[in-house]
Amino acid sequence: MTDPTLALRERMARELAERGLARSERWQRAFRRVPRHRFVPRFYEADGTMIDLETMENPERGLARVYRADEPLVVGWDGRTGNATASSSAPAIMAAMLDRLELEPGHRVLEVGTGTGYGAALLAEVAGPDRVTTVDVDRRLVAEARARLDALGYRVTVECADGFGGWPTGAPYDRVIATCMAPRVPRAWVEQAPGGLIVAVVVQMMAVLRVGADGRAQGRFSHHTMWFMQDRRHAPAQVTETEARAAMAGGHRRRARVPLRQIMGGEIVPAFWDLFKLFHLPYSFEFAPAKGQVGIVARDDRSWVLLEDDEEGGWVTQGGRRRLWDEAEGLYLRLLEAGAPGRDRFGLTVRPDGGQVVWLDHPESGYRWEL
Ligand SMILES: C[S@@+](CC[C@H](N)C(=O)[O-])C[C@H]1O[C@@H](n2cnc3c(N)ncnc32)[C@H](O)[C@@H]1O
Repeated sequence: MTDPTLALRERMARELAERGLARSERWQRAFRRVPRHRFVPRFYEADGTMIDLETMENPERGLARVYRADEPLVVGWDGRTGNATASSSAPAIMAAMLDRLELEPGHRVLEVGTGTGYGAALLAEVAGPDRVTTVDVDRRLVAEARARLDALGYRVTVECADGFGGWPTGAPYDRVIATCMAPRVPRAWVEQAPGGLIVAVVVQMMAVLRVGADGRAQGRFSHHTMWFMQDRRHAPAQVTETEARAAMAGGHRRRARVPLRQIMGGEIVPAFWDLFKLFHLPYSFEFAPAKGQVGIVARDDRSWVLLEDDEEGGWVTQGGRRRLWDEAEGLYLRLLEAGAPGRDRFGLTVRPDGGQVVWLDHPESGYRWEL
């Protein structure tokens, strides 16, 4: 009997090609060849119900989901906060990242965030055997991914480590790909990929950075907005709604300087939210305390803002160490003054001293933000 997932894989690979996400035959072939269902035999629904493809009577519907290009599949869950801790990212997002990696057969590549092992298998399809090293902080995921990769004959090094330190034992690498969100680009990735290329999600944007002979990594952000699983070693603790409500006491109330709807809609300055998060709010909790209200709490220092919409542009109440919305409006007005540029006009330089600067159009631009 032919494998029923072959047709599903074929269809997904074709879709990724048609949408311009996996542009090269190399990646289309990898998506056709790697059986994602073997890496995600079990996953969770949004309500926490587990789907087990191996014990289900009719796995067809589950398999169809596994091979949907836009379907991230949750494989780890934090019972306290109700947040996902690990997932197999949506193939569409993975393709967008892999496509920018300029990976060639024989390249040595480090993947940060092994998860299920699916991404490592895709990388191994192109780079070849014994060329891929992948690290994850989660011991259980590492053991499972290693077993799955072994069973399918992929020769990949799978290690349990904090990927923000890279994996020095396997260095130097030609390529580094990070599949968990980083608030900044760790110095180790740059040091371990001399002359190489780094593709990483920095807060909510994908950065493609080339490492120069001077030890500097530099490149552009892509036009995509990315939502990625946060790192699990460096991120401040999650905030629950009860904690957020408790943090939001007192504060200073004023009229919004820029109509809230204009900022919240995001149409006029499309890069605003991603840059605001990158500069001021990499870790936040957002919720609706009441109808017409948005509450935002910074998870690091619990600075907070409450936004209340009305016909005159809205009200802003802020509290905590920083004035989050003063920062937001200041950035918004500056981006408006710069002509509301799109994400892909921004770039990032990581200096050898570890300093990082975001710039508009070119590294010496007058529009620069030190991170
Ligand atoms: C979106 S998942 C990765 C998906 C994976 N590439 C795949 O193909 O299934 C993110 C992973 O990053 C891992 N992670 C989080 N923080 C990390 C860190 N500091 N170092 C290494 N891995 C980390 C998580 O445990 C999680 O498995």
